[in-house]
Amino acid sequence: MKKIYKKVTAVLIVLTMMFSLAACTSGDSGSGGSSSGGSKKDNKKVGIAMPTKDLQRWSEDGAYMKEAMEKAGYTVDIQYANNDIGVQASQIENMITGGCGTLVIASIDGGALSEVLEKAKAADIAVIAYDRLIMNTDAVTYYATFDNEKIGIMQGQYIADKLDLENQAGPFNIELFTGPTDDNNVNFYFGGAMSVLQKYIDEGKLVIKSGTEVSLAACATPNWSTEEAQKRMENIITKSYTGGEKLDAVLSSNDSVANGITNALVAAGYTAEDFPIITGQDCEITSVRNMIKGLQAMSVFVDTRELANVTADMVEAIMKGEEPEINNTEDYDNGTGIIPTYLCEPQVADIDNYKEVLIDSGYYTEDRLK
Ligand code: BGC
Repeated sequence: MKKIYKKVTAVLIVLTMMFSLAACTSGDSGSGGSSSGGSKKDNKKVGIAMPTKDLQRWSEDGAYMKEAMEKAGYTVDIQYANNDIGVQASQIENMITGGCGTLVIASIDGGALSEVLEKAKAADIAVIAYDRLIMNTDAVTYYATFDNEKIGIMQGQYIADKLDLENQAGPFNIELFTGPTDDNNVNFYFGGAMSVLQKYIDEGKLVIKSGTEVSLAACATPNWSTEEAQKRMENIITKSYTGGEKLDAVLSSNDSVANGITNALVAAGYTAEDFPIITGQDCEITSVRNMIKGLQAMSVFVDTRELANVTADMVEAIMKGEEPEINNTEDYDNGTGIIPTYLCEPQVADIDNYKEVLIDSGYYTEDRLK
């Protein structure tokens, strides 16, 4: 009797194990990694991985997204990785094991997430690349960003217009700065800007006095670091602009880099009266204040509220098993094929329109810019 009881218990244990294993691995359950084993629709947990809190850009993107997703009824696990690639990978891993149904990732290094995202794919978790494309992995489902090439074109065109390069012979002195080579966006920013400026360099209307080669690698700024940009600008000033040469323009792909350039120029004695045309992107508060003071000419406004909403809508559609809205299926190949993308529109902001673009739109209050 005892023996039979033991056998029945053993069979029951095996059956229970088989059932729970099936519930965990069932492909068509669409569990999306849900620890509850429910359908994707039922998985209301989203993981958001952001690069760093240090830049206003990312802390606000994160906050807007959290708000938009919570409003739509999702639970949000949001993590910032202090620009540390290893930390970001382990945060993502925790999101996967923690039962997130969708991951939204603004990568630190777009090429460094293949391994951890294999696990997301195996668990049927949708991955949205946020702002920066994640490279060389077919785990990425969609991409939401701004029209990055247009951003570069806007920066290059601003310099061309302000120097009136179509009509003036110059020569004007320019220096070129962009972001890190491991951010895929930089190809578009630098490429877009050079699609406007290269011809004027070739014609001799623009001169790079420092002699820096016109290549992304030579003009890169590791980690978009203000300090690195400042150091490089200081060296350029010492090397090429101490004999009374005029610096007319500096191309900068974003605001954190522009701030370093501005710091170096101010320290070298440049004032608003003789300040070169410096471009930027993000309309971060420090840069808008500099714009008001005449220490940065423009910034490209990327309305992170809009990107957050677009991304929240993508998450909702994916969770419901529907196709999210996309508007680009041509430009963003991550090495495994084209990633369907939604591009938001960037906008030029400068001293002439910043009130309308940034204050009237409710992005900033006037007080925040003081
Ligand atoms: C973003 C920029 C941002 C930069 C630095 C880029 O990937 O597209 O808007 O300024 O990262 O964080």
